[in-house]
Amino acid sequence: MTHVFADQSKLSIEQIRNLPIMQSLGHKIFFDTNLSNPPGQACSSCHDPKTAFSDPDLDLPVSRGAVEGKTGTINAPIVMYTAFIPAFHFDSEESLFIGGQFLDGRETTLEEQAKKPFLNPDEMNNPDKASVIEKIRNASYAAEFKLVFGQDALDDVDKAYDYVASALASFERSAILSPFTSKYDYYLAGAVKLSEQEERGLQLFEAKDKGNCAACHPSRPIDGRPPLFTDFTYDNLGIPSNQKLLEAKGADFVDIGLGKTAKDDTDNGKFRVPTLRNIAKTAPYMHNGVFTSLREAVDFYNTRDIDGKWPKPEIAATMNTEELGNLGLSDQEVDDIVAFMRTLSDGYESGEHAKIESAGAINLPYVRIEGQDVASKIYSVRMEQITAEQNSPLYHVTQLKELSLADDVYLNDIPYYSLDTGILEIPAIKKEHENGKQSTYVAQFKQTTPNGNLVFELGYYKEWQ
Ligand code: HEC
Ligand code: HEC
Repeated sequence: MTHVFADQSKLSIEQIRNLPIMQSLGHKIFFDTNLSNPPGQACSSCHDPKTAFSDPDLDLPVSRGAVEGKTGTINAPIVMYTAFIPAFHFDSEESLFIGGQFLDGRETTLEEQAKKPFLNPDEMNNPDKASVIEKIRNASYAAEFKLVFGQDALDDVDKAYDYVASALASFERSAILSPFTSKYDYYLAGAVKLSEQEERGLQLFEAKDKGNCAACHPSRPIDGRPPLFTDFTYDNLGIPSNQKLLEAKGADFVDIGLGKTAKDDTDNGKFRVPTLRNIAKTAPYMHNGVFTSLREAVDFYNTRDIDGKWPKPEIAATMNTEELGNLGLSDQEVDDIVAFMRTLSDGYESGEHAKIESAGAINLPYVRIEGQDVASKIYSVRMEQITAEQNSPLYHVTQLKELSLADDVYLNDIPYYSLDTGILEIPAIKKEHENGKQSTYVAQFKQTTPNGNLVFELGYYKEWQ
């Protein structure tokens, strides 16, 4: 019998996210540097969390393999948000290829993708599946592996290899890799404002007669899900060759992208539209890493068709000549678009803390509200003091707004209100004094309900030393 966790294809992303033990196993495999030949390289070597799970090495446009001197052929992409890439397919209505893992879509699912790097001689270089499974049998997490997939899970090499891929895919589908915690997410949730420049950049990014970027990198929520900044289609932007890559791979080297997968010359030079989430952290850019900065990438869209400005395209025949090439953006407008793209990095801290304002009003930009039978939601709350008593002043809630933050993994230390106990805990609330000094308190409020009004009584507060 196959183990219940082995076939995730029937589960929704939400259900998979509720498989923490499987994710934690996948996490360990992803970071295990023993799984290469020779040892020393893990998935995380080329997909490092410090650079949003892309290759941290800036010297080379491609990744170094486990074997000295071996390199891949393409700029290692971000593994974040790959969980949302649909399976590779041809959309007959739009007459377009969509989705698939790898920039040329050659693997249908995350599971199939995860089986490749271990055996790729340019990457982790194991001779066969059996040698990978032998390493897993000796790994510190072998017992955990059996706990997840069954006591005999490592006995049959083929099955075990499938389980390894399942665990990796499960980790890749976890909230760790798709947190949706960029400044732009908070902006969409109504929790923060963009700066003036970022706001201008967003408008230029979306305007059809300006950047027109959103035509391929959609920037607005779809069906209530925050935008992924890719429509998963394929395009040839007319990217020039990367000399560094030609030095490493030979002067004739060119990757034809989708042409290989679709087996059709008219698709040569096309690559899947990548997500722009965390784009500020994943230089260099494009499939061959030819651009070293975001500014250069936007400049290319803006001026590709201006004579003499850029070297000729790698593949000219299939190049998109309609949506880019001469956008007529000013230097300032290019900078604005770059500033906007910088708001797409996860782990944004809004800097908005719980605060005691003058006249005793309390501003709580984020409060987690939950109860035993009520799912956790995040609200912004404002409370104003109604009695001037010093000992246990009463506050009533004057604003209560639900925020649609997609995920709250980075919001762990925020105030918490339990519907079951009626207690509001504030782990850190700041107050600015008239002399400019700031104090931080920990405070607890208890809900009372005089005459049916939502009123909170200050239980205790204590200043942090
Ligand atoms: C030596 C560097 C290297 C190692 C090690 C490596 N990868 Fe990759 N990874 C790449 C490159 C390069 C690509 C892009 C290849 C392509 O598109 O043809 C890629 C693509 C991917 C993609 C597809 C992303 C997308 O947008 O299509 C996923 C997912 C991924 N890797 C996961 C993994 C996992 C899981 C492991 C470990 C089992 C791993 N990688 C090990 C370099 C590496
Ligand atoms: C016609 C569709 C299309 C439009 C319009 C478009 N892009 Fe792209 N974008 C792509 C494709 C396809 C790639 C990958 C190309 C490659 O690697 O060869 C890409 C790649 C990028 C990259 C590099 C991503 C990475 O991970 O290396 C950035 C940055 C980018 N686009 C920003 C923009 C901006 C900014 C605009 C508007 C000025 C824009 N794009 C307009 C399709 C488009």
